[in-house]
Amino acid sequence: MDHHEIYLDNHSSTRCAPEVVESMLPYFDAEYANPSSVANAVGRRAQNDVDHARQSIALMLGCESNEVVFTSGATESNNLALAGVLSRHKAGHVCLTTIEHSSVRGPLQEFVRRGFQISEIPVDRFGRVSPEALAEVLRPDTVLVSIIAASNEIGTIQNFHRLLPNIRRTQALLHVDATQAVGKIPFSLNELDIDLLSFSGHKLHGPKGIGGLIVRQKNRRVRLQPQVFGGGHERGLRSGTMNVPGIIGLERALRLSFEDIETVSTKVRVLRDDLWQRLQNGIPDLVLNGPPLGENDRLWNNLNCQFPGVEGQTLALTCEQVAMSSGSACNANQGEPSHVLKAIGLNPDQARSSLRFGLSRYTTASEIETAASLIIAAYRKIIK
Ligand SMILES: Cc1ncc(COP(=O)(O)O)c(C=O)c1O
Repeated sequence: MDHHEIYLDNHSSTRCAPEVVESMLPYFDAEYANPSSVANAVGRRAQNDVDHARQSIALMLGCESNEVVFTSGATESNNLALAGVLSRHKAGHVCLTTIEHSSVRGPLQEFVRRGFQISEIPVDRFGRVSPEALAEVLRPDTVLVSIIAASNEIGTIQNFHRLLPNIRRTQALLHVDATQAVGKIPFSLNELDIDLLSFSGHKLHGPKGIGGLIVRQKNRRVRLQPQVFGGGHERGLRSGTMNVPGIIGLERALRLSFEDIETVSTKVRVLRDDLWQRLQNGIPDLVLNGPPLGENDRLWNNLNCQFPGVEGQTLALTCEQVAMSSGSACNANQGEPSHVLKAIGLNPDQARSSLRFGLSRYTTASEIETAASLIIAAYRKIIK
């Protein structure tokens, strides 16, 4: 990245931390063996290192190492979770929130074609799912419920302690897309009865092309139909030569975020609030999308607001020195207003005038100061 570019798009990807890059380097060079090739000592060393990384990741997330399935990222984890459960049924009912990521919505569309029934769980104007709204859509034949842990657009963090009792009254499994939550919100799967949990390396200062799906075996033995066949890697759930540098980097990235979650979240929250304050001072009509900034149910690095009278896309293009995003960058949705903003009650114009900001541990106070003045100047230029 150019040194004068300011990256405020950390929900779509993050800088790979220098510690992470360093941890991965030996696995491109001296230790490049295949961990499945255990007939030789170098292969066994690689296997050993992958095993350690798996154990460490399991410990951090509060699960067992045989519950960790490495994938290429959260899109694949979500696909494996949903298709893996639903392929074991001929038909049935599935619930998902109205604010899921396209990598949850997409695979479910395929199962609609196969005859499954889908219910959307509505959210309130801040993106929160209530236990009552969930109870209303659950049915005796619900096989799966999918709920995004933290929204990649408006930062809403769901309260699973409140939602779980209703789900546990049914036979349904719970899948959680925790891509934006892992490494940002302290939690332990030992204390939360979630059946399947997806996450991704490049959202938490790890490398791209690696992620995981936790497939719990503790309270219920979750069985999945594999979607990729071959050599039977990952306990038969996801064949393919293991991405050793990716796995090592993912472990290091998780450790980095777990080590100083408190310090980083406190620092970044102040910067995020400062960005909002500065933007509001320059653009008095600015409207906040998503939960109030002071609340704990909003990601500390997320800001999303409406810039009345302009298209978010135009503002982002006019102010290219600051990387920000209109809608979800991970969607190839050209021009379509965000389904998440629609779900919290925005009309198409309000949704189109919105921009999302994602800060990170690397964001500095001076970047926020510069970014705010550049955005305000670009806004004034457009509405003139
Ligand atoms: C909530 C959420 N789920 C899934 C994904 C997909 O993750 P990946 O890029 O690892 O496939 C993303 C990011 O794009 C996301 O924000």
